[in-house]
Amino acid sequence: MASPLLFLLSVLLLASHPVSAIWPVPKSYSKGSSVLYLHQNLQITYNGAFVPYVYGYVPLNSDSKEIVTAGVSRALSSIFADKFVPWMITKRNKLAEFEPDVYKGQTWIKNLQIVQAGKDTASTFKPLAGEVDESYNLTLSTEGDVKLTAVSSIGILRGLETFTQLFYQHSTGTFWYTPFAPVSIQDAPKYPHRGVLLDTSRNYMGVKDILRTLDAMAWNKLNVLHIHVTDSQSWPLEIPSLPEVSREGAYHPSQVYTPQDVELVQKYGSQRGVEVYFEIDMPGHIGAVALSHPELIVAYNKAPYWWWCAEPPCGAFKLNDTAVDNFLDKLFDDLLPRLAPYSAYFHTGGDELNMNDSMLDEGIRSNDSAVLQPLLQKFIDTQHARVRKAGLTPITWEEIPLEWNVTLGKDTVVQAWLGDESVKALTGKGYKVIDSNYNFLYLDCGRGQWINMDNGGAYQTFYPFSDWCDPYKSWRLIYSHDPTYNLTEEEAKLVIGGEVAVWGETIDPVNLDSILWPRASAMGENLWSGTTDVSGQNRSQLEVTPRLNEMRYRMVARGVGASPIQMTFCTQSDSFDCSYPIS
Ligand SMILES: *[C@@H]1O[C@H](CO)[C@@H](O)[C@H](O)[C@H]1NC(C)=O
Ligand SMILES: *[C@@H]1O[C@H](CO)[C@@H](O)[C@H](O)[C@H]1NC(C)=O
Ligand SMILES: *[C@@H]1O[C@H](CO)[C@@H](O)[C@H](O)[C@H]1NC(C)=O
Ligand SMILES: *[C@@H]1O[C@H](CO)[C@@H](O)[C@H](O)[C@H]1NC(C)=O
Ligand SMILES: *[C@@H]1O[C@H](CO)[C@@H](O)[C@H](O)[C@H]1NC(C)=O
Ligand SMILES: *[C@@H]1O[C@H](CO)[C@@H](O)[C@H](O)[C@H]1NC(C)=O
Ligand SMILES: *[C@@H]1O[C@H](CO)[C@@H](O)[C@H](O)[C@H]1NC(C)=O
Repeated sequence: MASPLLFLLSVLLLASHPVSAIWPVPKSYSKGSSVLYLHQNLQITYNGAFVPYVYGYVPLNSDSKEIVTAGVSRALSSIFADKFVPWMITKRNKLAEFEPDVYKGQTWIKNLQIVQAGKDTASTFKPLAGEVDESYNLTLSTEGDVKLTAVSSIGILRGLETFTQLFYQHSTGTFWYTPFAPVSIQDAPKYPHRGVLLDTSRNYMGVKDILRTLDAMAWNKLNVLHIHVTDSQSWPLEIPSLPEVSREGAYHPSQVYTPQDVELVQKYGSQRGVEVYFEIDMPGHIGAVALSHPELIVAYNKAPYWWWCAEPPCGAFKLNDTAVDNFLDKLFDDLLPRLAPYSAYFHTGGDELNMNDSMLDEGIRSNDSAVLQPLLQKFIDTQHARVRKAGLTPITWEEIPLEWNVTLGKDTVVQAWLGDESVKALTGKGYKVIDSNYNFLYLDCGRGQWINMDNGGAYQTFYPFSDWCDPYKSWRLIYSHDPTYNLTEEEAKLVIGGEVAVWGETIDPVNLDSILWPRASAMGENLWSGTTDVSGQNRSQLEVTPRLNEMRYRMVARGVGASPIQMTFCTQSDSFDCSYPIS
């Protein structure tokens, strides 16, 4: 079929190699083919005031100028220090055809003029979804004038990340250039909540691994890190007023987040426009508390686990015991005031509570939902009131309203994981929703069972040992996902965004990067740019893949172990060479 599409596509592919690979792709983008060079002592101004380029600048506080100065430092350092020479995305052994001839003279970028049109407020650095304007405009003239404008300092950080992606290091090693001037970009995100869920209970993630993840998120314009900090397996969170909980519940004294660690992680994220919020999953998924407070927990490590919970060790809070309430009062009084300066949300969990657990509770002795439902309603009401009292907005998993029919405050955000139907049902009830559809967004899936299958029959039953959410979710599948699938326009407005999830049973700092990246990048573009182009067509993988390849190589250059999505043969070729033919 000699379609106009095919014609367009071939023009697109012939026009530039490599593509100018802004990731996620801006809302509107035009570029030329003039070369501009960048020098380390270019002049930078922010609202007219001089801004120095200092390598590794750390903001002194969350003053807008400090935030922007540090953003400039990170952007320029990534251009000058990461040595990204693009041989792997240009034709084999033909890099010289792509690179400018440095002996022909240079047009230098003269200045980087940053203008912030609006004023930052307290919520700029810990917004509820939609409270911060992340839009920006970026222009590079052929003469070397660069202008970046935004309403908020977060918009400026987004624009600076885009700026870095225009540049390459020359193979001589001493020049940095963009071949794409003049450039004009207008950009803004589609969804305000673009997140990653990190599980630090099944396997611990070090502070430096979390900080690296926050950096990589900022490069991809992802803006929310949800730390599922505790679960039944371990409690790595130090609570000074309840020191026994992490002392007994952490895997090892070295696998604990101190209050200083928590603040560092939140502050580090906030300075990059990535809001870090925490989840204490309850009333199920809380077994680790039994190691210090056995009196509060039922069914701890009870066998066979599948009658009491989803995976070992089981353990749930007693739902009709004032001691649990007193414990949570103390816990939240200690924790929430420390989290509130840096985030707007707190997640109280609520997934996979097994009705059988309360059979073992001497204060209840029932698994009848008619008995349990009012107790759970009261439990959620009490915890959410505490969250609100600390100035935070509660988030829960979908089972609380959908399976248990618990009524939630209208401010509550509900995280859906069981599929499109859940998002439909929740938005139908008027709840704001974060989409984490496991069929698309669970990055741990498809890598095999971690449960041992003994020879007694389980071996045969479970052969070939696929996990519950098999298959693996490739970046292509993630990219194809529409968080508002089958919703009315009104319902769609309630979807604030999505989170990819990294459940940690077989993931720790050793393989974290390769599990997350670049698949979280794919969701980053999905949520920032949407998956359709200006004409409303799905973006073609032939257009998307070269950009994601380049982004992946840039991430590797910046110190993140992102997986390859193709072989070098493909990254050095036109996308056509690694594609099924267009019919
Ligand atoms: C970006 O440019 C558009 C079109 O000129 C304008 O409407 C918008 O306000 C600009 N945004 C910023 C943040 O400067
Ligand atoms: C509760 O336990 C019974 C066995 O006593 C089991 O048959 C049932 O499947 C369990 N229910 C759940 C939800 O796990
Ligand atoms: C909860 O505990 C109270 C006080 O011990 C008791 O009176 C009540 O019956 C219990 N509720 C349920 C549903 O078991
Ligand atoms: C409640 O417990 C009974 C007796 O163990 C069991 O047969 C039934 O399946 C349980 N109900 C649920 C919802 O698990
Ligand atoms: C919630 O409501 C649905 C529909 O009315 C019902 O089938 C279900 O049993 C209820 N669940 C609980 C825990 O009350
Ligand atoms: C566009 O993407 C959606 C979501 O994956 C898919 O259902 C649809 O078939 C695609 N449309 C075309 C024309 O390929
Ligand atoms: C859309 O949602 C409705 C209501 O939940 C459901 O009946 C229908 O099957 C869904 N359609 C598709 C195509 O998923």
